[in-house]
Amino acid sequence: MARIMTKSKFSRTFKVLALGSFALVSSLQAEEEDTKMSIEMQTVSKQLKSLRKIAKDDFAAAAEAVHKAHVALLSAMQYTASMVEEMPAGDEKAKALADSRRLLGLSYAALCELEIAYLEKDPAKIEAAMTKVKGTKKEGHKKYTDD
Ligand code: HEM
Repeated sequence: MARIMTKSKFSRTFKVLALGSFALVSSLQAEEEDTKMSIEMQTVSKQLKSLRKIAKDDFAAAAEAVHKAHVALLSAMQYTASMVEEMPAGDEKAKALADSRRLLGLSYAALCELEIAYLEKDPAKIEAAMTKVKGTKKEGHKKYTDD
């Protein structure tokens, strides 16, 4: 009887430890995936994707979505890209930090241009600004993410 109790206690302890380690690993992974910068970026992305569902002639709704996107991008700019954060201190890191902020700044300006283009209901300006938004995102992600 005593042996059976010990066995069941052992198996319970094992289960608690196994679940505990699983929870720890999962939370560490979640931390790694969802940095504060990533969370803001996800909002930028969500707002830009919402443009696909907005009627082409609803310029006001599109301008509002883009406005929300650049508010989130401005917030993302206060954080440092994980890849840059992890670089050893020195000139290369300082250069990467300045360059990533440069790209974020360009992206922010392009989003503001996009909002203006929607407010002006100007399809040619919308297309030109959207090209800039996509270009800065592509360069930023190529240089500073694992994408
Ligand atoms: C409209 C433009 C942009 C959109 C829609 C966008 C979208 C995203 C999304 C959705 C993520 C999260 C990815 C994930 O959770 O796996 C992300 C992460 C990231 N983006 Fe952007 N992005 C944009 C512009 C930029 C620019 C210009 C840079 C320039 C540096 C940049 C740098 C990063 C970095 C570094 C991360 C990872 C966060 C970290 O390192 O902690 N993004 N972006």
